[in-house]
Amino acid sequence: MTTTDARPVTTLVHAAGSPAGEWWRDAVIYQVYPRSFADASGDGIGDLPGVTSRLEHLAELGVDAVWLSPFYRSPQADAGYDVADYRDVDPLFGTLADFDQMLERAHGLGLRVIVDLVPNHTSDEHVWFQAALAAAPGSPERARYLFRDGKGPDGSLPPNNWESIFGGAAWTRVPDGQWYLHLFDSRQPDLDWEHPEVRAEFEAILRFWLDRGVDGFRVDVAHGMVKAPGLPDWDGHVSMIEGSDGSEAATGNHGPMFDQDGVHDIYRAWNRVLAEYPGDRALVAEAWVDPLSRLTRYVRPDEMQQAFNFAFLATHWDAPALRAVIEASYDAADSVGAPTTWVLSNHDVVRHASRLGLTVPGSRPNGIGHGDEQPDVALGLRRARAASLLMLGLPGSAYLYQGEELGLPDHTSLDDDLRQDPAFFRTGGAERGRDGCRVPLPWAADQAGFGFSPTGVTWLPQPADWAAYALDAQRGVEGSTYETYRSALALRRSAVLGSGGVAWAPGFDDDVIAFTNREVLVVANLGSTPVSLPAGAEVLLASVELGLDDAGTVLVPSDATAWVRLPG
Ligand code: NOJ
Repeated sequence: MTTTDARPVTTLVHAAGSPAGEWWRDAVIYQVYPRSFADASGDGIGDLPGVTSRLEHLAELGVDAVWLSPFYRSPQADAGYDVADYRDVDPLFGTLADFDQMLERAHGLGLRVIVDLVPNHTSDEHVWFQAALAAAPGSPERARYLFRDGKGPDGSLPPNNWESIFGGAAWTRVPDGQWYLHLFDSRQPDLDWEHPEVRAEFEAILRFWLDRGVDGFRVDVAHGMVKAPGLPDWDGHVSMIEGSDGSEAATGNHGPMFDQDGVHDIYRAWNRVLAEYPGDRALVAEAWVDPLSRLTRYVRPDEMQQAFNFAFLATHWDAPALRAVIEASYDAADSVGAPTTWVLSNHDVVRHASRLGLTVPGSRPNGIGHGDEQPDVALGLRRARAASLLMLGLPGSAYLYQGEELGLPDHTSLDDDLRQDPAFFRTGGAERGRDGCRVPLPWAADQAGFGFSPTGVTWLPQPADWAAYALDAQRGVEGSTYETYRSALALRRSAVLGSGGVAWAPGFDDDVIAFTNREVLVVANLGSTPVSLPAGAEVLLASVELGLDDAGTVLVPSDATAWVRLPG
């Protein structure tokens, strides 16, 4: 048993209120993955009217903003991250009028709305790419993409050795013999960001959505748009799943296709576009770069407002490692006056309730299926709740992925013949891909499809035991994951934790993460023995029910987090 003396607080990691003001500095932002959130039409695929119908859930949960993954016109070769028309809604998801209604309803409920922008590549069905295919090598139509002649006497070898992030070569040959670059699927050709028309077009797209009233953009592959001159060979391995842990020693994604200095000119220009609009609008970078000092360059004062902190997501369930990444995150962000972000799950990674139930807790397989190690569901959920309370106790902006407020795990036994992620096909099944974290949400325990759609149809099957996770099975149930998130968000707001500070609390073992944020002491016990709280501590919230020892001291058991207020 560990004894504690949580006062005095000594090691300041991040000062309260530094700097404060704009909404995005401390916002809790909820990711809606439209095809799996709520389906109003009954075709089994979520849609914008479905989102609108459930916005009250998000207001009740207590988040500040919503980020929607792509709903634009798209052949859905990569679930909408292959955009054919950036200015229209795909009929699968509804219409522009549905978008406007959704936005109006969200704003009416006090929720900001961020949309996804996919500028690294278009769909192969985009009018520009169709024109490029119809035109000759060397034509202006081809110049908007990265078409090159092949190597070898007959040009039958790709122009360089780059791999697609989804597996296989990053080049595809067209009938006239040229090749085009695609860092992702062959149906996602990369744009050439040296081309002025490309730059002008995306500034116009930003304005199109800003004119409709959006509050910001999540920028897909923000580190990938500019490639090193000459597209040199590179023997490293590109990945957005493996990424890195953000440490100075990490080695992820340093190839000539990523994190080139020139990319920052684009964000300076976009910063100026957003500044033309009233209110605070935000750009958030999806940039799998390391170390954190490189990531920080995306959020310098004249660039983007936020960058996803994947270093935090990538860190295993290990107290010293988490403390180190938390500290490094504040050091890096504070050096440029940007907020830190926190994120544990999204539509590209195994959900944290499943990752944390693996033998190496927090490790990141690209999907889990039949024959793979199956997570310990109960342990994973227990740790996920502890991790979420740890995250939500930290100042900065936090991202939640739809369903994590229900404690949802991945679908870890999805049949391979139902999989849709191009990464599964392009790796010949070696990687299961991301379908397991994209399964339609359970809203109602007793309805077909758990209330996801009026017909009960769901584009991916939901595991039979998901009734227990349904919103209506948890709403109003004390101690449920949903009510725990709701309480955490309410307390975070009332105690102003989002703009607070972090000071490590002394007197705890190495495997306990303990810090104060304003008047709240957060204690996350990642060790194997219970931790006793300081005498007189008032428990505000805990990820599990806390016990008492014989002396009446409150104990935080293993794999649990408590938020407490200290006496005096
Ligand atoms: C990152 C997105 O989050 C992911 O879902 C997508 O497949 C790739 N970028 C390509 O757009």
